[in-house]
Amino acid sequence: MIGQGRIDCDILRSRVMSAEEAAELIQPGTTVGVSGFTGAGYPKAVPQALAARIKKKSREGMPFRLNLWTGSSTGPEIDGALAAVDGIGFRMPFQSDPYLRDKINKGETEYVDNHLSCAAPIAASGAMGQLHTALIEVTAVRGGGKLVPSSSVGNNQSWLDQAKQVILEVNSWQPADLDGMHDIYSVARPPHTQPIPILTPGDRIGDSHLSVDVNKVVAVVETAIPDRNSPPAVLDGVALKIAGNVIDFLSHEVRQGRLPPSLLPLQPGVGSVANAVLAGLKSSPFTNMTAYTEVIQDGIVDLLDCGRMGVASATAFSLSPDCARRLNADMKKYRSRIVLRPQDVSNSPEVIRRLGCIAMNPFIEIDIYGFVNSTHVMGSWMMNGIGGTGDFARSASLSLFMAPSVAQGGKISAIVPMCSHMDHGAQDVMIVATEQGLADLRGKSPKQRAETIINNCAHPNYRPLLLDYYKRAKKTSTGLHAPCMLDEVFSWHERFAKTGTMMRR
Ligand code: COA
Repeated sequence: MIGQGRIDCDILRSRVMSAEEAAELIQPGTTVGVSGFTGAGYPKAVPQALAARIKKKSREGMPFRLNLWTGSSTGPEIDGALAAVDGIGFRMPFQSDPYLRDKINKGETEYVDNHLSCAAPIAASGAMGQLHTALIEVTAVRGGGKLVPSSSVGNNQSWLDQAKQVILEVNSWQPADLDGMHDIYSVARPPHTQPIPILTPGDRIGDSHLSVDVNKVVAVVETAIPDRNSPPAVLDGVALKIAGNVIDFLSHEVRQGRLPPSLLPLQPGVGSVANAVLAGLKSSPFTNMTAYTEVIQDGIVDLLDCGRMGVASATAFSLSPDCARRLNADMKKYRSRIVLRPQDVSNSPEVIRRLGCIAMNPFIEIDIYGFVNSTHVMGSWMMNGIGGTGDFARSASLSLFMAPSVAQGGKISAIVPMCSHMDHGAQDVMIVATEQGLADLRGKSPKQRAETIINNCAHPNYRPLLLDYYKRAKKTSTGLHAPCMLDEVFSWHERFAKTGTMMRR
């Protein structure tokens, strides 16, 4: 037996069945809410059985598409497998799967890119219709409908509460010692919402288990399948330079007395630059750091291990295979220093504002006034989604955005006259860092922001073009508060579309 000893409940043990049998209980056109956040804690067996069923039905001329609600990105066994058989009609929120991305950008899958803290509350309001099935991976089942969550919490409790029927995957690959790491607290809907009583990142305010009405559980499937666990992004010279600029800035803020020597709770974002910042923090002067963030990645585990970080709060792990092995072998040791919470708590603007988090997020492009595009390439092509960037950037005490100054081998400038899509207003962008330097935008007017961003952060190949645009805009713009030339703001994107580069020939 795969998960012997993991199901400590007679009623639910009697509902154990195969993934194929469980997949038969999900009907075409219905809405399924799955667990899973950044490739951790997502169901793996039932979605693959479902994909096989959908493929068979399509061959028989019976289209079978689902509305899929998740926590965030999942793994190839869900987003990839279901998109490959054209099984996802609607998807929310964040995704990063290449097959699903392709479907979204071909206009074949409708995609709603909510702020991650908002997805479950909007669904719970009823505005998006009924959730038919909650399909949730857990580590173990206890008596009385108590469930030990696995490597992510995401929107699981909300899906369990909302769904008409529940299917559980009990995954014995997940270490049993995860039991006790989670803090499940449900935020009541307005007008009954109470303050979330988290005063420090390590505070525990709820139950360590999820709860389910056992009468709603129609299937329990046992698995032993690993999480996605992608290898970490390579730390290249550009990422290390950006990280160096960020760490120099944080050190400066400590010297000025604007930040304590332990900094403030960190939200380090994701991707190669975030990894480089975390690696840099390991040899930085900061001690007793904390994280109040969305995911625990390798760099955070390293900081916990070397003692520079005391405690980290998030909603999920996002680990490399090596780091997952290391952590899984010793989960008990980490249980008191890592807290996994529902994503409307890990990403709660109320808590982020109270703790004064330092948000550090990547961007796709930023314009000279500091508006940020995190999601759409050339204005229309969805990369992944906004994730938690909006949750953190607006409410943080210090909001940094960081990325290389150019993309695609220099054919694209990440700093443009105007963003081709806008996710974050300039008010939510305090610091911009590229490998060229850092722009501190606090207290600066739009014109002062433009000059600082262009001079400090733009790539030298594009800086003269940006200065030329800005100079001409100041001469011809109707308003001189944030000068712009309406007929030229997207000319850089148009040039790329026509010639394959933003550079003028
Ligand atoms: N124009 C076109 N493409 C761009 C671009 C731009 N201005 N900037 C980046 N890209 C492309 C890169 O070329 C690369 O494409 P490839 O995979 O085909 O090589 C891809 O975006 C990823 O960029 P990379 O530099 O490797 O960084 P990354 O893996 O860290 O991803 C984001 C950067 C912004 C796409 C990614 O972090 C993201 O989706 N962010 C939104 C959500 C978020 O920030 N969450 C943070 C935690 S809440």
